[in-house]
Amino acid sequence: MRHILHKGEFVYPSPRTQGWRVKAQLDVEYEVIETPGLLDPDNPELLAVPGGGSTTDTRLIILDHAVDELYGTRIRSYFAENSATVEYLTLPGSEEYKSIDRALEVVNKLNEVGTNRLSNPPIVIGGGVVADVVGVAASLYRRGIPFIRVPTTLLSQVDVSVAAKSGVNYGGYRNRLGSYTPPPRTLIDREFLATVPDRQLRNGMGEIFKMALIKDQRLFELLEEHGAELIQHRFQDPTPGYDGLTGTIADEVIGRSIAGMAEELEPNLWEKNLQRSVDYGHSFSPLVEMRASPELLHGEAVAMDCVFSAIIAAHRGLISGADLDRIIAVARRLGLEPSHPLFSDVALVSEALADTIRHRNGQQNLPILTGIGAVCFLNDVTEGEIAQACDGMGRLLASHADDHAQSVGAS
Ligand SMILES: NC(=O)c1ccc[n+]([C@@H]2O[C@H](COP(=O)([O-])OP(=O)(O)OC[C@H]3O[C@@H](n4cnc5c(N)ncnc54)[C@H](O)[C@@H]3O)[C@@H](O)[C@H]2O)c1
Ligand SMILES: [Zn+2]
Repeated sequence: MRHILHKGEFVYPSPRTQGWRVKAQLDVEYEVIETPGLLDPDNPELLAVPGGGSTTDTRLIILDHAVDELYGTRIRSYFAENSATVEYLTLPGSEEYKSIDRALEVVNKLNEVGTNRLSNPPIVIGGGVVADVVGVAASLYRRGIPFIRVPTTLLSQVDVSVAAKSGVNYGGYRNRLGSYTPPPRTLIDREFLATVPDRQLRNGMGEIFKMALIKDQRLFELLEEHGAELIQHRFQDPTPGYDGLTGTIADEVIGRSIAGMAEELEPNLWEKNLQRSVDYGHSFSPLVEMRASPELLHGEAVAMDCVFSAIIAAHRGLISGADLDRIIAVARRLGLEPSHPLFSDVALVSEALADTIRHRNGQQNLPILTGIGAVCFLNDVTEGEIAQACDGMGRLLASHADDHAQSVGAS
């Protein structure tokens, strides 16, 4: 016998079954603060405990090994001069170390330090890899503690900084384990970029390029005009005697990228809506990136996918040929050569799309440009269009090889 209880909404299969439904809402709020001179002992930002107050309890400071090498002395004197009790753990920052074992290493150290539920949150200073490892550890520790994130690469400053999620690789899959538990505070100081290798800066530019294409024409123009110069000056302020505007432009480029990302994420933090314009550049690239590994960095593969998707848009007449040429030219100016042999491999790119469709729960949901700074979503991209775009990528690659041969010939 089945009957309906009017209190609540359950249909009970038998009169002896009881049911309760708990419904709660979670307010999520976190901040991303750009603060120049973060390691200046007079700058209090790094010591602040989210929610207010300060602590005399020991805090764990997790450092990316490159950051420890380059900034370790300054970081240690910052905490020493502020008489803060801290302990350090240094972790390698590279994709192959983004593992659950590293996250457990952080957990062990949190135990050793005696980390409380709320009052002495750990601080991670480093690239996206260590930020993700610590994010996973913090989400597991005591079922979730707050942490402070200080991203130190361009990619992590513009992309990971706003992210609500953290993940570690597992079982051969990227980010297979993880959670959506954003740290209450992320602190950004672009001075860290002064030491980031060129290629890593260009890698970060790949994500900025994507953001410009999907929603910010002004950002695109800034990249067009100043992108190469920003990389050359490592996003640092003009040196004496240098009359450029690198500092201001760097702030605007980083600021617009973060603001754009925050705007896109906020209404869809848990990604329940699978039509995400920030997935632009991430439809075909994941498999190509994985197959090309370790040859291609993430941002490089993303920039190629941005161009691949723009070729589809141009073939459909959604963007003009002139816009496509501008997009290709900017990618090249940023040192993100928009092609790779795997992007002309129709079978592989089709397989990549099939995998993305699974990830998007059975739909293509392909973000495709309708202009520079605007996207629509397509669900009917055909194998023929993929083949056409692969062909276009092949021609880009050949023209690059010709240019290269000519410049080598000329030298
Ligand atoms: N949580 C998210 O939503 C999210 C978003 C985007 C990317 N990610 C993750 O971020 C990772 C990529 O981050 P990444 O590009 O920062 O790579 P990374 O963390 O591997 O850092 C790149 C290299 O730069 C070094 N480094 C860090 N800071 C430096 C500095 N100031 N000067 C010199 N060298 C420095 C690191 O040691 C490393 O060797 C990926 O694992 C990706 O999955 C996560
Ligand atoms: Zn990305």
